[in-house]
Order: sequence, then C-alpha cells, then structure tokens
Amino acid sequence: MISVIIVGFLLILLIEASVSLVVVVPEDEIAGQVGSTVTLPCWIAPPQNAEGLEIRWYRPEHFNTPVLFYRDGKIQDIQEEHYRNRSSLGLRSAQSGGLKDGDVSLRLDKLTAQDEGVFHLYLKGDSTFDGQVMTLNITALGSIPVLSQRAVSGDKVNMSCRSSGWFPEPNVRWMSDDRRLLSPGQVSVSRAADGMFSVQSWTIVSPSDTQLISCLLALNTGQHREGRIDITDIISLEVTSGPWKALFIIFLICALLGLAAFIVYKYREKLTVKKPSEQPCEDGAMGNMREENVVLNINMEELRKDAVNITLDRETAHPGLMINKDLKIVRDASGYVQKNEGFPYELCVCGAQKFSSGRHYWEVDLAQNNFPPKDYWLIGVQKDGNCSSTDKSRLTPSDGFWFLCSDGANGFHTNTDPQITLSLSSRPERLGVLLDYDNARLSFYNAKHCQHLLTINTKFSGVLVPLFNPGVGDKSSLKILDVSVESPDSSQPLLGNYSEA
Ligand SMILES: *[C@@H]1O[C@H](CO)[C@@H](O)[C@H](O)[C@H]1NC(C)=O
Ligand SMILES: *[C@@H]1O[C@H](CO)[C@@H](O)[C@H](O)[C@H]1NC(C)=O
Ligand SMILES: *[C@@H]1O[C@H](CO)[C@@H](O)[C@H](O)[C@H]1NC(C)=O
Ligand SMILES: *[C@@H]1O[C@H](CO)[C@@H](O)[C@H](O)[C@H]1NC(C)=O
Ligand SMILES: *[C@@H]1O[C@H](CO)[C@@H](O)[C@H](O)[C@H]1NC(C)=O
Ligand SMILES: *[C@@H]1O[C@H](CO)[C@@H](O)[C@H](O)[C@H]1NC(C)=O
Repeated sequence: MISVIIVGFLLILLIEASVSLVVVVPEDEIAGQVGSTVTLPCWIAPPQNAEGLEIRWYRPEHFNTPVLFYRDGKIQDIQEEHYRNRSSLGLRSAQSGGLKDGDVSLRLDKLTAQDEGVFHLYLKGDSTFDGQVMTLNITALGSIPVLSQRAVSGDKVNMSCRSSGWFPEPNVRWMSDDRRLLSPGQVSVSRAADGMFSVQSWTIVSPSDTQLISCLLALNTGQHREGRIDITDIISLEVTSGPWKALFIIFLICALLGLAAFIVYKYREKLTVKKPSEQPCEDGAMGNMREENVVLNINMEELRKDAVNITLDRETAHPGLMINKDLKIVRDASGYVQKNEGFPYELCVCGAQKFSSGRHYWEVDLAQNNFPPKDYWLIGVQKDGNCSSTDKSRLTPSDGFWFLCSDGANGFHTNTDPQITLSLSSRPERLGVLLDYDNARLSFYNAKHCQHLLTINTKFSGVLVPLFNPGVGDKSSLKILDVSVESPDSSQPLLGNYSEA
C-alpha cells in the first residue's frame, strides 16, 4: 500500500518535472536610454529547450497586439506597429545558447519614451504555461542648457535656462557660486509628441547675490546637465536712482575724465586708428528692455579686451561661397542653388585662427552697406576646422559644432542636441562672439545694442576654429569686423570659385 503511494507520488513528481515551466526574470527594473538597445532578460529554469513553445511579449492591455509573438518555430507577423522592426528575441548574456537553452529574452532597439513601463511575458507549452512581468525604465539626458536673461526692475536680472529632450522630467535647481540653492523661479515643462520633456526655468538674481549662476537639470539616476554663466560677463548695472544716483554721477564724472585722458593719450599715440569699439550702444528695439532705472548693457570694452583678428580660411570654404581678397567678407554666390530644403548648412567656411585655450572675442557685421540685417546666418565654432559635414544631424556638440543659427522666419536656434529655438527681440546687425575655452562657454552678444543674447555651456577639447555660414538669399554679406582696428568698408569685388552668370 505504502509503496503504491510512493510510486504514485514519484510519478506525479516526474510528470510535474517534465511539463512544468518556470520562467525567471531579474528582480530589479531594467534601465535603458532613449535611442539605445536594451534586453529584457528572461529564461526558463532549469533550462529547457524553448523552440517548440509559444512566446508572447506584450504590453498591459495589448495581449492581442504583442510586442513579439513566437510560435511554430518562428516569429509571427502579429505585432503592435510601434514595435515593428524594433523587437527580437535577445540573449540574456554572451554565454546564452538562446532558445535552445530556454532563453526567451526580449531585445528592443531604438528605445523611445513610450517604451517606459511594464512588459508581460506569457510562455505556453503543450499542457503548461507560465508568465512574468518586468519593468523598463527609460531615461534621456537632454540638451546642453542654454542661458539667457532679461532685465527686471531694481538691480535684478531675470535669468532663464532652457533645455529639451529629457525623460523623465528632470529636477531643476539654480545655484550660486558657492553651490547655495537660489530661490527657484517658475519651471515650465512641455512635452513633445515623442514623449520627451522640454524645460524652461527662470529665476530672479541680483549681482550682489552671486557672480556665477548655475542651472542644474538632473534625473534621479544622478545624470545631469549644468549651465553656468558669469553675471559680470552679461551685465553692468547702472543704478540711477536713490542714494546711488549721486555716487553714480560722481563715478561717471571720474570715468569720463579718465576716458578723456585716455582718448587724448591714445589719440597722440595712434592718430590714424579708428576705434569702432567706442561707438555708443544704440537703443534700437531694446527700448522695452529698459525698465525702471536698469540698463542691461554689457561692458563691450571689457569684452573687446579679448578681441582677436579673424580671417577666413579659403581652403575650407564651400565652392558656393564668395570670399573677398582680404578674407573678411563672405556671401553666397549669386547663382548658388541649394541642394536641400531649409537652411543651407553646407555653405560654411572656417576661420584661419585656431584656439585651444583662453578667451577670444570677435564681431561680425550682418547688415553691410545699409542693407537690412541678414535673415540667414550661422555663426559659432567648430572642432578641427573640418566643416565638410552637411547633414544637419551631424552638426551637434558631440560632433564638434557649437553655433547660433538665424533661419529667417523660423527664428533663431542653437545646435544643442536637441536644438533650442529662441525668439530674439530684434535681428542683430552686429553679432559678438565670445569663446571662453577655459570655462567651456560660448556666448553671443548683440554688439550694437551691447546686449548679451545667450550662452551655451559645453565641454571643449582639441582645437577650435571660428565657423561662419552666410546662408542664401540675403542682400547683405557677412563681414568679420576688425574690432581693434577698423578697416574702411571694403568695396573690393568678391572673389569666388564660382562663375557668376
Ligand atoms: C526605475 O524607476 C523607479 C521609479 O522611478 C526607481 O525607483 C528605480 O530605482 C528605477 N530603477 C532603475 C534600475 O533605474
Ligand atoms: C520594417 O522593415 C521593412 C523592411 O526592412 C520596411 O519595409 C518597413 O517599412 C519597416 N517598418 C517600419 C514600421 O519601420
Ligand atoms: C522671467 O522671464 C520669463 C521668460 O524668460 C518669463 O516667463 C517670466 O515671467 C519672467 N519673470 C519675471 C518675474 O519677470
Ligand atoms: C572631415 O569630415 C569628413 C566627414 O565628417 C571626413 O570624411 C573627413 O575625413 C574629415 N577630414 C579631415 C581632414 O578631418
Ligand atoms: C588682421 O589681419 C589682416 C590679415 O592678416 C591684416 O591685414 C590686418 O591688418 C589685421 N588687423 C589687425 C588689427 O591686426
Ligand atoms: C574650384 O573648385 C573646383 C572643385 O570644386 C576645383 O577643382 C578648382 O581647382 C577650383 N578652382 C579654384 C580657382 O580654386
């Protein structure tokens, strides 16, 4: 009797062992970056050949339109459209023997934000089945933050910080030079159709609070991006009311006396030298920036101390460009026909000067010969002086490009990846560029209105050269100005490797 029970028990165990399926998955969530490939590891334990089984990977509520469906020895063509050509059976480790060893892992390529969340596995044999659930965490590190500012009342500045391409939504913190948290302004978050987050935050600071201000965007995985700006690089505040007024006037008188003495001295020294840098700032459309008694003008003299004499490197010029003899003026040849729609990224030329440290400033005239300010231009720096790339997606900081681009009615954008689009209050007639290699910042100024436009914070390495692209179709050409010594307006004909019809 007892032996019959034991035999029966053993028989049941045997049957159980031969047909039961136990599927194992890791305990923790799996993490993947947008655009990358991830494997959701999953296997049968103890190992058993899975080639004859039915394997269904699906998202919650989508059993009938799975991510991947394997049956009768092959992957079936029943699938959610979102996963078409992106899902396959993966290997949980390099040693795995695949299906034969019971490895039923799911591999997903080109991850998107929508892939975040739960995945179910349902495994079915002839007379048995098992299931498992896994969670996929998706992250995406957004673009390099772009910082810009506006004047507000009192001696304060409204700094804003923009970045896009985040997943999930990042935390935003503003900090002073000693890493003190600054009272945060508002954070506005928007979500693109692809599920990625764009963030814009602002905070009100006063130069008396801190000299350096930093905007830190971080994911809770610890990955982060930081934008920093030196307030003294972007403003010099003139407070013209209250008890400061008298002090200011005294200071102004001293400064004027000093300046007069300086001019007389310089005048004797260099009678023939013209100094455009002494042009006063113009109000222009910046009138609305002047609120109360604050003048958000930067000290151009300070910037121009780092002026460098830039010339164009004809060797690097696209054949559709015309460059003048003294290598300062460039424009599109009159018969140039664009290959692609949109901004003509291919029409670039590099500067001949190379930088691998220090601070360097140059200015570009975008409204030559009384023509209206150019609508199309691209100005910045580039690594290694090789601007032969015309594919817009290859013009990113990781490919060694940093620039501001004016694309007509589409406004202005930086090439941070993904790009940030901005509206500037007026089209610059004269653009100032400050390359601060050591602090890894590239700043743009409206040199005519003495206004900081924006700063791109990044990482530089190797040798950088100035980058110019005059776009197509503007009346005015693009001219690099001699900031220290202005040459008379060049009326030399433009020489180009392009025959004009
Ligand atoms: C996945 O996300 C959750 C919630 O955000 C978090 O608690 C967990 O640590 C993440 N896991 C991994 C592996 O990143
Ligand atoms: C999947 O790949 C096939 C063949 O390579 C292609 O024809 C099809 O358009 C692709 N489908 C999607 C959604 O990418
Ligand atoms: C600061 O600037 C942002 C836009 O850059 C604006 O939305 C916000 O209202 C401004 N804040 C103040 C207090 O002016
Ligand atoms: C310039 O870039 C192109 C494409 O990115 C590459 O094929 C070429 O070798 C590069 N030339 C130099 C001199 O680096
Ligand atoms: C700048 O460079 C050009 C060409 O090399 C030269 O003609 C010009 O005199 C230079 N200007 C200054 C201020 O050095
Ligand atoms: C003009 O460009 C062509 C190729 O684009 C080149 O073969 C030719 O040598 C160039 N001519 C001059 C004068 O630079």
